[in-house]
Amino acid sequence: MTDLVLPSETNPLNNLFGGELLARMDRAASIAARRHSRRIVVTASVNHVAFNRAVPLGSVVTVEAKVSRAFKTSMEVFLDVWIEDRESGVRTKANEAIYTFVAVDETGRPVAVPEVTPESELEISRYDAALRRKQLSLVLAGKMKAHDATELKALFE
Ligand SMILES: CC(C)(COP(=O)(O)OP(=O)(O)OC[C@H]1O[C@@H](n2cnc3c(N)ncnc32)[C@H](O)[C@@H]1OP(=O)(O)O)[C@@H](O)C(=O)NCCC(=O)NCCS
Repeated sequence: MTDLVLPSETNPLNNLFGGELLARMDRAASIAARRHSRRIVVTASVNHVAFNRAVPLGSVVTVEAKVSRAFKTSMEVFLDVWIEDRESGVRTKANEAIYTFVAVDETGRPVAVPEVTPESELEISRYDAALRRKQLSLVLAGKMKAHDATELKALFE
């Protein structure tokens, strides 16, 4: 998703407002999750956001969203945010985030989604670490006991 940064979307330092970037990432991620599942999708959690670089007024910002792993009804979506240099056209990575979406039916009940097959080295590494992130997110949300988070426990053994 490529778009400009307009004055109404900036903070007093004339950089993109964080909440505006969160909304853009949410929209791009929901499209990726919806294309993968061909279902209605809802944001279940924002697992990680790193605002590493400010995005100045007037920037051309590209938000790239990819489903990195699908579980039963949930999907992890990776967001990479790029800024484009006006003169050279070269893109620089500005920020990244990880969202979780759940596919639901018309009544809002979770429904199964197809699997993801990672291909590139980056896709494989994101896929492999996704279960650990899912468990961490569930523990933080109080939906899983730390004791049951096998992938997390394995990190410290
Ligand atoms: C997201 C939602 C559908 C989950 O419903 P639920 O009753 O908790 O359903 P479940 O417990 O079966 O969870 C469904 C899936 O979501 C995952 N999930 C739920 N909460 C999660 C969290 N905080 N982090 C990561 N995954 C989560 C579960 O692990 C499960 O994944 P799986 O089926 O792939 O194993 C429900 O909480 C909801 O509708 N939330 C509101 C969504 C919304 O309105 N978003 C926009 C906010 S403005």
